[in-house]
Amino acid sequence: MSAAAATLVLVLDDGQGNLKTIPPMLEGKGKVVYAGSLDEARPALNGQSPHIALVACAEGPAEAEGRLADLGIAPGWMIAGATSAQAGDPEFLRAAMQARFNDILTVPAEAPALHEAYENALRHIQGPEGSKGKVVALYSSKGGTGVSTLAVNLALALNHQGGLRVGVLDLDLQCGVVASLLNLQPTQTLGKLGDVPSDDPNALRDELLSRITNHESGVRLIASPPILHDGLNISAEMVGRIIRILRDRFDVLLVDTPKWVGDRLVAALDEADHILLVTEPLIPSLAKARESLRLFSRFEYPQDKVVLVFNRVAKESELQPEEAAQALGRPAYGAVPEEHARLIEAANRGTPPLTEAVAKGPFAKAVSGLAEKLRADLGFGAPKPQPKKRGFLFGRKTS
Ligand SMILES: Nc1ncnc2c1ncn2[C@@H]1O[C@H](COP(=O)(O)OP(=O)(O)OP(=O)(O)O)[C@@H](O)[C@H]1O
Ligand SMILES: [Mg+2]
Repeated sequence: MSAAAATLVLVLDDGQGNLKTIPPMLEGKGKVVYAGSLDEARPALNGQSPHIALVACAEGPAEAEGRLADLGIAPGWMIAGATSAQAGDPEFLRAAMQARFNDILTVPAEAPALHEAYENALRHIQGPEGSKGKVVALYSSKGGTGVSTLAVNLALALNHQGGLRVGVLDLDLQCGVVASLLNLQPTQTLGKLGDVPSDDPNALRDELLSRITNHESGVRLIASPPILHDGLNISAEMVGRIIRILRDRFDVLLVDTPKWVGDRLVAALDEADHILLVTEPLIPSLAKARESLRLFSRFEYPQDKVVLVFNRVAKESELQPEEAAQALGRPAYGAVPEEHARLIEAANRGTPPLTEAVAKGPFAKAVSGLAEKLRADLGFGAPKPQPKKRGFLFGRKTS
């Protein structure tokens, strides 16, 4: 089934009837429910929450949001239907943002503008191929293996390769370092998220989405709390819900996990589509990796859910990834070389090697290759290179 065909769209009109022309223009773009009032909307939706809600806002965005709340639904994407006067009024735009509308459509709508708003909504709620985003957890039961380093650099590499919304969730709730690796000082983190009331299904989503930090590259971070105990009341059940909410917002969500086995870790690994089991080609690391593989088979994860990624591979090392992989009875999915000085500098400055669009050096090249492979295996096809940014001088010469 195509993405559009599976989409449920609610068009919620008001007394002015500005949205009456919408349903015929959306023909072939999924199931469209048109309702002139809440009483008409309820039976037509039959308890389902629409993916997209287009709501008439003659009486203002807050009132329109209130009508959606009365229906008890949480659409994935909300479009405010506004007159051209409203759409040009900064007060209206501010109120629409506060009421959590994602987009504004001038009504009565023209077909091209409507279709653009619809496609934009689809891209955001369903990802490029209409499916939910992919969750990739990185894990090692041995500390210091490079899990966080690889999570950050893979995210940057995937982002450079274009066309994907990439997020990193730092689930190392007590010792998270992702923000620091990216030189970010987030004001909003996962801290105290456990205090959000669990009886309101939208409260966690709204809270979580307000706690996303932007990195200049375009990668988004959901950071771990800076204060150790602020993450303690996040339950395993909540971890599962957090990942499911974020899965809808990103094409690829990379999850950095702590080494301690506990119910929160298991919740995250259960939720993941793929697990990159990070290990070093050293005997103590391999013993730990073997234990993890045993655990995963007890969890009955399918074989192809878990892949081996070797990190800190040194040329002179006695044990090379192929032999180490053989010892674990699995192929090596990726091998990333040791590049000591470069990684130390990166950690101290908050500039991971993959911050640069062109991968330089053995670490960056290997991670970039790994990202390309992962991208293809997740079903996103070949990289879509971004147009190169013009340098200052170049811009001046041509102006
Ligand atoms: N390929 C590499 N070459 C050189 N140094 C590396 C490499 N990968 C990671 N490191 C370094 O190893 C150290 C540990 O990395 P990192 O914090 O990513 O590991 P981790 O597995 O997340 O550890 P923790 O168990 O603390 O969460 C860091 O100093 C990092 O710079
Ligand atoms: Mg870590």
